[in-house]
Amino acid sequence: MATEIDYRQVDGILAKYAKDKGTLIPIMQEVQNLYNYLPKAVLEYISQKTEIPLSEIYGVATFYSLFHLNPRGKYIIRCCQGTACHVRGGAGILDALEAQLGIKAGETTADGRFTLETVACLGACGLAPVMQIDEDTHGRMTPAKVPAVLTEYK
Ligand code: FES
Repeated sequence: MATEIDYRQVDGILAKYAKDKGTLIPIMQEVQNLYNYLPKAVLEYISQKTEIPLSEIYGVATFYSLFHLNPRGKYIIRCCQGTACHVRGGAGILDALEAQLGIKAGETTADGRFTLETVACLGACGLAPVMQIDEDTHGRMTPAKVPAVLTEYK
């Protein structure tokens, strides 16, 4: 994940889509892949270069839940709060994560290591309660297992 803005990389993305109109979404997806979120300065740069109003770019960024306007952690934790997980103690898993990380759902730890999110179902209801860290699924979670699982992610 890039941390400092390298506008040559952004230029490369813009050049790729320069011929096509209406390609704002793929441009934003590629920028987000670079930074893990959409930095304000890059959105302003895209607006200047493409002459798409900044308000329109923000409109797209806030409409689609896949876009993020704030920095995100190195690892994304998705704690399931769907029905199957809820009845098996999903709320307790979320409480344990919040307590262990010192943040609330939707926030990122100060060291930039974890972002904590909730989701409505991870498609692994048979393993409820479930949480996912990036691509790894952790099933049959208990609050007591939370600290050990987190230590696997440095
Ligand atoms: S409800 Fe949690 S995985 Fe489906």
